Amino acid sequence: MPISLANTLSASTRCDRTAAWAALAGHFEAHGRAFDLREAFARDPRRFETMSFDAPEVFADLSKNLVDAATLRFLADLARECGVEARRDAMLAGARVNDTEGRAVLHTALRAPRGSAPFSDDVHAVLDAMLAFAEGVRARADGAAPGRLRHVVNIGIGGSDLGPQMAVRALADVAHPGLSFDFVANVDGADLASVLARVAPAATLFVVASKTFTTQETMTNAETARAWFLAQGGTRIEEHFVAATSNVEAAARFGITRTFGFWDWVGGRYSLWSAIGLTIAIAIGAGRFRELLAGARAMDEHFASAPVERNVPMLLGLVDVWYRNFHGFASRCIAPYSQALQRLPAFLQQLEMESNGKRVDRSGAALPFATSPVVWGEPGTNAQHAYFQMLHQGSDVVPVEFILLKRSSATAGAVAPEAVARQHRMLLANGLAQSQALMQGRASASEPHRDFPGNRPSTTLVLDALAPRSLGALLALYEHRVFTSGAIWGIDSFDQWGVELGKTLGAQLLPLLQPGAADATRADLDPSTAGLMRRLSAE
Ligand code: F6P
Repeated sequence: MPISLANTLSASTRCDRTAAWAALAGHFEAHGRAFDLREAFARDPRRFETMSFDAPEVFADLSKNLVDAATLRFLADLARECGVEARRDAMLAGARVNDTEGRAVLHTALRAPRGSAPFSDDVHAVLDAMLAFAEGVRARADGAAPGRLRHVVNIGIGGSDLGPQMAVRALADVAHPGLSFDFVANVDGADLASVLARVAPAATLFVVASKTFTTQETMTNAETARAWFLAQGGTRIEEHFVAATSNVEAAARFGITRTFGFWDWVGGRYSLWSAIGLTIAIAIGAGRFRELLAGARAMDEHFASAPVERNVPMLLGLVDVWYRNFHGFASRCIAPYSQALQRLPAFLQQLEMESNGKRVDRSGAALPFATSPVVWGEPGTNAQHAYFQMLHQGSDVVPVEFILLKRSSATAGAVAPEAVARQHRMLLANGLAQSQALMQGRASASEPHRDFPGNRPSTTLVLDALAPRSLGALLALYEHRVFTSGAIWGIDSFDQWGVELGKTLGAQLLPLLQPGAADATRADLDPSTAGLMRRLSAE
């Protein structure tokens, strides 16, 4: 069934050599550069209706973007000329679209119902086993099974941390109330130490999450945690350490007998749907984890079948290309108006920048145009009191992405429901006001420091509520959006060679920092690195 590597490579056309790209360039000069959102709304009272779209669980208002109907038409043409749909179909069918690693890319198979995607038997066997285990952990937390557990510590980094951490925080209101969830990623020992100071070995489950089971940070933290566990009188490592990994042998060598596996066709930043989601499953339970998968699946179906003109992930990815390559905007700000989504910007940083931060195409040829923007952000309203000043009046235009929830994700527990509802209305008013202010601006000729230029673009995504299903759909939306811009640019969105060099050099420098190591003034070190090493290792 896999389509050959040669096929997927030859199918791509360089985007800047297409007729649609030339049309977009002409359109930008004629209408794009001087486009004014306020005039566009005045010209077209139905702009909101025609430029907002429904996808499963997510409503997307694109009307406050610097696009008109012609822009979207040319962008859809660009998608077709670049073979985005064919590449999407190849990915979903299991072709090796991760060209540089010669691998399929099938995170979508992880959320497909039994029998409807490649590797279904393997996927569902692991899913069933992992969810049964998660339920067992929850029973131990309830006291309904022996070996009471109180704490779950996820040890992992990158995709083995950011996805689970983001999702557990996002769904905290439905997480098991008898368990605490901590996430240790940094090789800085302070990260692990601060968690170990709060947990007891007999009541703690460590989930070692690592696709490769070789990542320095994760292995070091796992070894330190194991040493701490034994030193504190912990017994039965096999009861207190489990692994989510595609390297089952390495986990066994570590002493972990209970391992949930996955496959090389699941990339780290696309892995929360796999065994890497074990901590999420423990937090929210089997039924809700299946809901998370179902939400993502609904978005997959939309992505797979909606025409480009109404395909929300594709439209977002295409607008990203318009901003990056024609307007020259270098970053995008993520502003979730939800404290529960506090880790979403960090998750999206990896998703987008590790996927599309590449300067050569899939065949290795240098690209003459810009690719991934810098993605950054914080939850609103906090962000308003930090850097929104720059978004409104700074010298750069930064498209902003507002994520608004119709219903609050706060559980009315200690706080009265009326207070929760009132604060949620404030939250929404703030989010809407910011996008309005960015667009409308406010002229003040006499006091230039009070002048807001306006015409600053934003997208607003609306979810009815933050629930496993809607979160799943939102995350899949982002995955497919990143796929779309990556496919236009012709890059391999599924490799991450850029992390290798630092790892190699770090391994070379580490011995030089050992106590008693030879003087760091070595001929093969640059003077700055050598000088810093002397400074850092001086007694
Ligand atoms: O940063 C590089 C990377 O390979 C990421 O892609 C990945 O999510 C992370 O390291 C962790 O890798 P692993 O799950 O193998 O420990």
